[in-house]
Amino acid sequence: MRVSLLLIPLLLLHIPIVSQAAAIHDAAMEGDVAAITAALDAGADVDESDGSATPLYLAVFMGHIEAAKLLIERGADVNAQTTGGPALMAAVGTGKIDLLNLLLERDADPNSDRDGEFALHVAVTLDCFDCVKALVEAGADVNAKAMHGKTPLHLAKNRGQREIADYLLAHGVVLPTPAPISMKLASADVEKGRTEYTRRCTTCHEAEPQGGNKIGPNLWSVVGRDKASMADMRYSEALLGWEGVWTYEDLNRFLFEPMLTTPGVKMETPGVPDETERVNMIAYLRTLSDKPIPLP
Ligand code: HEC
Repeated sequence: MRVSLLLIPLLLLHIPIVSQAAAIHDAAMEGDVAAITAALDAGADVDESDGSATPLYLAVFMGHIEAAKLLIERGADVNAQTTGGPALMAAVGTGKIDLLNLLLERDADPNSDRDGEFALHVAVTLDCFDCVKALVEAGADVNAKAMHGKTPLHLAKNRGQREIADYLLAHGVVLPTPAPISMKLASADVEKGRTEYTRRCTTCHEAEPQGGNKIGPNLWSVVGRDKASMADMRYSEALLGWEGVWTYEDLNRFLFEPMLTTPGVKMETPGVPDETERVNMIAYLRTLSDKPIPLP
């Protein structure tokens, strides 16, 4: 009895706050501008979270532009975090270009992300070219790497989105070219190359003379072999479009970071960014042959 008596004032204090929060979130979900105004006038916090989202996030997610405008005018933080990321992620995720433009005009961060996936990556994944353009014009980093090292260009090429890929290339994508390594091959540690190869590559590649393809093509005699030339292998456009045989320098570039140097590639692995390790690996690949081609 004493306990519940003590609780009464706490409950009385608490209930109005809870119901205000609920009211503004419901109003935002419904795009009810009058109800949002009433809740704010009654003292609701414009950035109050309902446990996962802010009113602005909910309004954007549901596509209510007038409600979103009102919330921003009433001081909502456009970059407030929610479990779905900032409100901009809701605009991109639902492909709502008018809301995306509104948020960007009001200083939303074009490099917003949700758990390491950037708005630009989402825009590419959803094939929303208008969203891509809006984000890039507002300053989104076209070279940003999402989890697993994927760049927007890699995603676009991988999905055959030519228009988006060309746009990204024309707007600042940098394709890295590692320094030449040919002259370092003679002093490479082939054994270390073999160990690293076994550790990193054999899940996807076989390298026996009579062996077949696994997830990736057989790598027997790969040095000096025509690129993307194994029968029964469904290569990416990216690799099919790269002319010529595998030279040491082409392998150097490819293996540096496949998704960066050869965007659209089906080998979506981190590659071998360390030069010494890469040189050892290429020196080992050279030995996978009846007649290894001469060292430079
Ligand atoms: C997760 C699987 C996977 C891993 C791990 C992997 N690869 Fe690949 N690799 C592939 C696939 C798939 C392709 C075909 C790529 C394409 O078509 O875009 C490929 C292609 C290649 C090619 C081009 C061969 C040709 O026929 O033109 C080389 C060279 C290569 N990989 C070397 C390596 C090396 C060296 C490693 C280890 C550092 C490695 N790969 C790790 C899946 C993988």
